[in-house]
Amino acid sequence: MSEEKTNQQWGGRFNEPTDAFVARFTASVQFDQRMYKQDIRGSVAHAKMLTKVGVLTEAECADILKGLSEIESDIESGNFEWSIALEDVHMNIEAALTKKIGITGKKLHTGRSRNDQVATDIRLYVRDEIDNILAEITRLQLGIVGLARQEADTVMPGFTHLQTAQPVTFGHHLMAWFEMLSRDYERFIDCRKRVNILPLGAAALAGTTYPIDRHMTTELLGFTAPTENSLDSVSDRDFAIEFCAASSILMMHMTRYSEELVMWASAQFNFINLPDRFCTGSSIMPQKKNPDVPELVRGKSGRVYGHLMSLLTLMKSQPLAYNKDNQEDKEPLFDAIDTVKGCLRAFADMVPAIEAKHDNMREAALRGFSTATDLADYVVRKGIPFRDAHEIVGKAVAYGIEQSKDLGEMSLEELQQFSGQIGDDVFEVLTLDGSVSARDHIGGTAPNQVRQACDRAEKMLQERN
Ligand code: ARG
Repeated sequence: MSEEKTNQQWGGRFNEPTDAFVARFTASVQFDQRMYKQDIRGSVAHAKMLTKVGVLTEAECADILKGLSEIESDIESGNFEWSIALEDVHMNIEAALTKKIGITGKKLHTGRSRNDQVATDIRLYVRDEIDNILAEITRLQLGIVGLARQEADTVMPGFTHLQTAQPVTFGHHLMAWFEMLSRDYERFIDCRKRVNILPLGAAALAGTTYPIDRHMTTELLGFTAPTENSLDSVSDRDFAIEFCAASSILMMHMTRYSEELVMWASAQFNFINLPDRFCTGSSIMPQKKNPDVPELVRGKSGRVYGHLMSLLTLMKSQPLAYNKDNQEDKEPLFDAIDTVKGCLRAFADMVPAIEAKHDNMREAALRGFSTATDLADYVVRKGIPFRDAHEIVGKAVAYGIEQSKDLGEMSLEELQQFSGQIGDDVFEVLTLDGSVSARDHIGGTAPNQVRQACDRAEKMLQERN
């Protein structure tokens, strides 16, 4: 990146060039160059609009569009020299345009300021990335439904307090993840609505004296409406905060999936196998296979929460309208975008490859008295009040712990010690499959319900596109 000292864009008022360190300190081109496509798209729309309202001639517009399109190719093929002295992506591209097409290049900035320009670029950028994130959430959700359908009958222990509570199906557990992601999806859709408003035309802060047509640029750039207030237009970054908030909640969910995968892949749980390609080994302990992907996703949540805090703090107490503080919005925002996309991609690739260890899951559910509630419900059906039933089953469990026997492994005589109401039909409810199948209502864990939930989920995903 070139660093020659200059302040050619505003040199008229200044008696000396910008200090070299200050030029670097105040520049943003190192990181905002990634918005070059959005910057060019915005400029194309602005030029077309200026032409329609008579500020530029058709010939000038044609030159500008041709120049901008060449610049885009130059950047893409690595033939563009970014300059720190030109501060940001906007002035780099504008200077390159003038270099290419001469004086007409200098007319592009008529009726516009970098303040509305940058606000437009970021909105375009975030909008594009929200669309990528939405597609990636959908891909992950498709993987989850696929696995859930495959595991609809697989019994595992369900936990509360991380203690075995009641048997559930693995498919049901996975569909809980699906639901969290559906809400994340909606949060991004909702955020997108407020991102998709066009600030261009606000100029520096007060609007412009040129007869601009903001509805035309709104339409050309695919926004739903122009912003209502020029001061707000150039200073508002709450859409970026909202994006980071939606991203933080998504990441919080991802840490929950990650934590469960890490536990399940441990020798102690041994519920799943993560394929080798998603794991790494240890340089010293030959037996190790580490679930790095979920661990890293769990760890990366910190960045995104941090970026949300950065942006909230960045905006705090800022007086209207634009302040240079706002240049600090980009790095947190970009890193949040990269992190969320990376984590979603890793999960969308990995989830369909998770292998459930059915026998171990079932064994764990059997060992933890997970059908105790079923026994209590059974005794209640025989006419005993629930609180007394709770007591009866509590005693049976204490006996089971002493004898190292699960409820389903006790004889009828053993069970009858605790209540004379228990008959030999009790064994139907004490089996794991009987227990899960009995929870056969919408939202319940019965395999039949999981399959219906998968049907609804797949239909919903299809309708998204
Ligand atoms: N690089 C600046 C930013 O990221 C662009 C706007 C600067 N405007 C100004 N008047 N200094 O916010």
